[in-house]
Amino acid sequence: MKAIDIRNKYLNYFKSKGHVIIPSAPLIPENDPSVLFTTAGMHPLVPYLLGEKHPQGKRLTDYQKCLRTVDIDEVGDNRHLTFFEMLGNWSLGDYFKEESIKMSFEFLTKELNIPVEKLSVTVFAGDDDAPRDTESAEYWKKVGMPEDKIYYFGKDDNWWIAGEEGPCGPDTEMFYDTGKPACSENCNPSCDCGKYVEIWNNVFMEYYKTKNGKYTKLEQKNVDTGLGLERINMLLQGKETPFDTEIFLPIMEKLKELAKNDNISSRRIVAEHLRASMMIIADGGRPSNIDRGYILRRLIRRMTRHLSKLEISLDNIDELIDLNIDVLKEMYPELVEKKETIKSVILEEKDKFMKTLVNGEKEFEKEILKAKNENKDKIDGKTVFRLYETFGFPPEVTEELAEEKGFKVNLEEIDSLFKEHQEKSRLGAEQKFKGGLADQNEITIAYHTATHLLHKALKIVLGDHVKQAGSNITNERMRFDFTHPQKVTKEELEKVEEIVNEQIKRELDVKCEEMTLEEAKASGAIGLFENKYGDIVKVYTIGDFSKEICGGPHVSNTKELGTFKIKKEEASSAGVRRIKAILIK
Ligand code: SER
Repeated sequence: MKAIDIRNKYLNYFKSKGHVIIPSAPLIPENDPSVLFTTAGMHPLVPYLLGEKHPQGKRLTDYQKCLRTVDIDEVGDNRHLTFFEMLGNWSLGDYFKEESIKMSFEFLTKELNIPVEKLSVTVFAGDDDAPRDTESAEYWKKVGMPEDKIYYFGKDDNWWIAGEEGPCGPDTEMFYDTGKPACSENCNPSCDCGKYVEIWNNVFMEYYKTKNGKYTKLEQKNVDTGLGLERINMLLQGKETPFDTEIFLPIMEKLKELAKNDNISSRRIVAEHLRASMMIIADGGRPSNIDRGYILRRLIRRMTRHLSKLEISLDNIDELIDLNIDVLKEMYPELVEKKETIKSVILEEKDKFMKTLVNGEKEFEKEILKAKNENKDKIDGKTVFRLYETFGFPPEVTEELAEEKGFKVNLEEIDSLFKEHQEKSRLGAEQKFKGGLADQNEITIAYHTATHLLHKALKIVLGDHVKQAGSNITNERMRFDFTHPQKVTKEELEKVEEIVNEQIKRELDVKCEEMTLEEAKASGAIGLFENKYGDIVKVYTIGDFSKEICGGPHVSNTKELGTFKIKKEEASSAGVRRIKAILIK
């Protein structure tokens, strides 16, 4: 059985159970700027999960193209993917736990012929927000799941929500036993030793988590399920990684044939990033310096870099795209239709990257000259990092070139700088999901600090009811949404502008401290407390003016901001106003 056969079996099975097959929504969400890409099958269905009537009825099924970027740096190992396909079935206020469990069990054991012995399941253990899900456990027993294969876990494992706010509920997850030996006496499905692999997640969505962390009951009880296609395909074929299945194998083998310097991790990165890039482009994505465009840019550049690492000529990209389209065309016919666009976007981005590398090399030469003049035999980590951050010049290239010229580089120092950088990018990416900052450079960082100043100034001028409702930053401007019942007058805007500029002129230092969430609250820091920041939070203080919980990064002194100018004030949604502003240097 191949992936496409599993997909067809799935859709047909649920069709036979009264579900309507709906098409996959595009990878790039329509009218939803709050997320970069569609990350789950339920994502395009949110309005219907909240009670709006779906034109196709109450039972739906589909395959959904998804992309998750949190693990982008992990790709290259034996399991992480950015793009993947999720099979799903939904009940919009129709069947609930019993029927959902019955159908999942039947599909796994009768359609996919998985022996019951290979399966185990988990259900929600219960807490203050929702009761223990003994009901689901009972239904599992009823269909034939042995009691000792039913595990109870808390919210971390058995509760599903997309992001911080929205429809959610306890879930029951199904696991496949790979037959690997147990890692310990206590080995169970929540363990990530590799023995148990999660295959399917049925969410019993009957709650809504509000912005302030409260759980309210939804109008209707829904079921939302998700089954990762690449994973189940790999397991059913008895393969160790998705790269060993028909989805990736032809390209993995082609890369092996072409590589003069083979390395499996680089081949996986090329194969995975190429597929993901093609899918994004086919759905309308284009490389840029922000948001989704930046993710696409990173995917293409990383792929290019690893092709070079494999010592495969970049002239082969064209042929690799052809091959990949051939492999995937049955599953995603849109790739055939968009073939020329896919090629031109990827090749153009590759050329841009090569130019970047040339510029980086020039800068590198300057650094070498400087080091020579200063009689140094080392290139320091900061320089390597600057070449990377400013010119996109990969550190391993700097290292190689430096060595050729008889210079050493301090690798340890680079490692720690990169860790810091990765942490910043991670926090940045998380911010984006709250409608914030994804790309980081001198300009966007300055805007980020200006956002804190604006937030505080609005509180001063309009009142304490002002709360951040969203933020979006590009290289050109900042956009800030905040709660306020009426239009902000011209005078008020002028006052806000004046306050912000005053703080810039005061040349206030920006300080970052880490503390517990409790300490942060006690210190008077503002911020979205209901968000899960983890136990320790970062608090940014701007002089004596503002104090906010925030992932950063920020400038070190407000004098770096230039002049703050409000360009527009308008309504964003009911009770929410929007300000667009710029910094002039
Ligand atoms: N939304 C759930 C998930 O992504 C089930 O589809 O796992």
